[in-house]
Amino acid sequence: MSESRLTFDFTAQPIATKSLPLVRSPELKDENSMSGTEGKVVAITGASSGIGEATALLLAGRGAKVVLGARRSDRLEALANRIAGAGGEAAYACTDVRRRDDLSNLVKLACERYGKLDVLVSNAGIGPISPLDDLRVSEWEDMIDINIKGVLYGIAAALPGFRKQGFGHFVNTASTAGLITRPTMSVCSGTKFAVRAISEGLRQEAGDKLRVTIISPGFVQTDFLEAVTNLEVRTQLAASRDKFAISPDAIARAIVYAIEQPADVDVGEIVIRPTAQG
Ligand SMILES: NC(=O)c1ccc[n+]([C@@H]2O[C@H](COP(=O)([O-])OP(=O)(O)OC[C@H]3O[C@@H](n4cnc5c(N)ncnc54)[C@H](OP(=O)(O)O)[C@@H]3O)[C@@H](O)[C@H]2O)c1
Repeated sequence: MSESRLTFDFTAQPIATKSLPLVRSPELKDENSMSGTEGKVVAITGASSGIGEATALLLAGRGAKVVLGARRSDRLEALANRIAGAGGEAAYACTDVRRRDDLSNLVKLACERYGKLDVLVSNAGIGPISPLDDLRVSEWEDMIDINIKGVLYGIAAALPGFRKQGFGHFVNTASTAGLITRPTMSVCSGTKFAVRAISEGLRQEAGDKLRVTIISPGFVQTDFLEAVTNLEVRTQLAASRDKFAISPDAIARAIVYAIEQPADVDVGEIVIRPTAQG
């Protein structure tokens, strides 16, 4: 680990193993059996805030080269500069996951800039929840387009390259709403159930070279409430969030855990929720 990396200004908590001496056995020099995060190229959608941003910072601090995607390119630029300023490596591209070409370009950027893509973290997502009676149909469509089709476009963009290079890891952000649904959450839940089903199907088809991980967060302290347009629902959610939501760093640590495992260890799903969440 370089000096400059030690000066990283993390908001994330240190990982328990961070202070342990790094011991690499000779076989880990083989790219196909590479473990850890050092030198891995990781593309992250939804990297402009919340979980995606926390994940980018944690990975960059652990020696990964991060390729940041989201629509707010000003935020991506600031994040990439922050990482570079601390001695890390980052590239970014304005990415709308509703557009298949944007995902292809993000993967292309990773391969052109860094020569490969080890991991695609499909994290972009929205949750404008509301009762079905509200008929907020355009929000239903947005959730389907971003949460489901965005993940599928990520698979379409990265899978051929992963097959060709003989390694690759999909990390898809679902939700505890993908495990159980509640009133007001049916469409958002439906999209996250879909992400889990698609990811599990992908894992079964992936073979012994590729890895697929589902990350299912519970209530996390991020900007996601800004998309909720039903004011009653939003007020209730804000109260719960302020009471018990956990830091996005907790989800970032789970993502790093999955990525840093040896190549023959596939972490299928991690559910991370506040202890206070029912
Ligand atoms: N916060 C929670 O309690 C919670 C719980 C369970 C699951 N999750 C999931 O966690 C993931 C991250 O959300 P978050 O909580 O970190 O919320 P957030 O801070 O609002 O982050 C959402 C990210 O998604 C990006 N995004 C939204 N629409 C996009 C699009 N069309 N194309 C590309 N990027 C897009 C946003 O960037 P731009 O606006 O710049 O494009 C932003 O970077 C989502 O999949 C969410 O469903 C969150």
